[in-house]
Order: sequence, then structure tokens, then C-alpha cells
Amino acid sequence: MAYETLIVETRGNVGLVTLNRPQALNALNSTVLKELKEAYAAFHADEAVGAIVLTGSERAFAAGADIKEMQPLQFADIYKSDFISGWDEVAKARKPVIAAVSGFALGGGCELAMMCDFIIASETAKFGQPEITLGVIPGMGGSQRLTRAVGKAKAMDLILTGRMMDAAEAERSGLVSRVVAPDRLLDEALAAAEKIASLSRPSVMMAKEAVNRAFETTLEEGLRFERRLFHSLFATDDQKEGMAAFVEKRKPAFTHR
Ligand code: CAA
Repeated sequence: MAYETLIVETRGNVGLVTLNRPQALNALNSTVLKELKEAYAAFHADEAVGAIVLTGSERAFAAGADIKEMQPLQFADIYKSDFISGWDEVAKARKPVIAAVSGFALGGGCELAMMCDFIIASETAKFGQPEITLGVIPGMGGSQRLTRAVGKAKAMDLILTGRMMDAAEAERSGLVSRVVAPDRLLDEALAAAEKIASLSRPSVMMAKEAVNRAFETTLEEGLRFERRLFHSLFATDDQKEGMAAFVEKRKPAFTHR
């Protein structure tokens, strides 16, 4: 399929999506959303793909929702169409998605990175929610996901002032899982994704579901949910294979069943 705003390819068992609107620092417009949904759907349908890496350019992961597209919009229209709610579908990807962030991840760009399962950042990455400087607030999850990721104090600081934080601060505050040299970013993200893709798909997908449930429910319910998923994995061939391989001191050959 031909994409206008993305480069979509597979590397081994990893689906790689590169945001590609260099003239607008990868600002997220409705075409990006439509194409990202299509790319994710194709990767989900592809049995060979076990994980996805989402990245941008060296200068910008994405500098936000497209301000030029939003500028003329009126309340009644965006309310009726529930403008930008389509991003929820991107956030609900069932296969693991790693964000590989270099340069600006601002506004909707930071929010898109936070929709991924974890973020690997280049030392050049800059995160922020500058919407307040435009007379609006985050609209793709920033006030909710950033607060859960870094806590109230840091989220309020970023969202109320619109300032950017660098990669070191983002790592200290728990927004990103690793910071690497710029020239290592893609390799590091692809290696992590390939590792995930080499593991049993049902257990990987359930692990993702279980961690995400921690943000949605009580501890009691979350523990019960985790335990039930754990029990259910004993119905898979991969549990038999994984444990047999350990006992027999060999590498497991997962069949993802
Ligand atoms: N939307 C549309 N175009 C954008 C854009 C955005 N979010 N961010 C950058 N661009 C465009 C610029 O308009 C410019 O285009 P032209 O050359 O045609 O003028 C091009 O990308 C390069 O940008 P700059 O010349 O501004 O580059 P810079 O290096 O001087 O500054 C920057 C970089 C600090 C990231 C600056 O571009 C910037 O502040 N961008 C906007 C960041 C922002 O406010 N993001 C939040 C958007 S609102 C949002 O995301 C809402 C939501 O939560 C859903």
C-alpha cells in the first residue's frame, strides 16, 4: 500500500512505521491518523509481525497535532465529529508498540509516544505539552497519560507552563524507559522489538493487557485479572514448550499457539 505521510516496512519480525511529514516536523494531521490506523491494522493481520516500532526523524518524532489543520475549526463541528477521538484506536493496538523518539515530541507527538507501550529516547529528545501556549489544552491524552506516567507535580509543571523537558529529565521522571545515543536509537528499538517478537505472542499480548489493566482498575481486580491470564496461558502450546525448554536446557521454539 502507498502511504503519503508514513514509511511502512518490516524488519525481520518487526513492523516499522516512520512518520514522514518533514516539512511540518511530522505534525499529526487527519491523513497521518488514517494511515497509521491502516498500517497498524496491516501489521496486526500479519502473523509474522510480533511487535511494532514507531519513529520519526532525527529532528522530530512529531511536533504535535497539525496546528494549521486545527486553526479554522469551530466548536460545534469538532464536538459533533468528536475530533481526534480516532487516536483511541491507535492507543488500543494489541501488539506491542515501542516509540523510538528523537528530537521534538510535543503536544500530540508526546501523546502519541505515550500511546505506545514504552518509549526509547535519543539523547536529543525533547518532550512537552505546549498546547497551553496556543490557548488550548492537550487533547490526545496528555493530561491523563502524562500524569499517570510522571505524577501530578511534573505533569502540572509541563502542562501549565508548556515548557519542554529533555531526555535525561524524561528518564528520571519515568516517561521513557531508556535513553541512548542518537545513532543507536533505531537499532536499540528494533532489537527490543525483535526480542519481543521472538517470544510467545499470546504471553506477550496478555502481559501488555495485564500491565495496561493496572491503569484502569483496583489492585484487587488487577491481581485477579493477572492471575486469570496467567492461568489461561497454561492452555497454550508455548507454555509447555517454554517450560520444557528451560528444563531441557535448550532454546524454546515458540509456535505462538
Ligand atoms: N502543526 C503544524 N505545523 C507545524 C507544527 C504543528 N504542530 N509544528 C511545526 N510545524 C511546521 C512549522 O509551521 C514550520 O512550517 P513552515 O516552514 O511552513 O513555516 C515547520 O514545521 C518547521 O517548524 P519551525 O520553523 O517552527 O521549526 P523550529 O525549529 O523553529 O521550531 C518547534 C520547532 C519548537 C517544534 C516549533 O515548530 C513549534 O513550537 N511547533 C509547535 C509545537 C506545538 O505547539 N505543538 C502542540 C500542537 S497542539 C496539539 O498537539 C493538540 C493536541 O494535544 C491534540
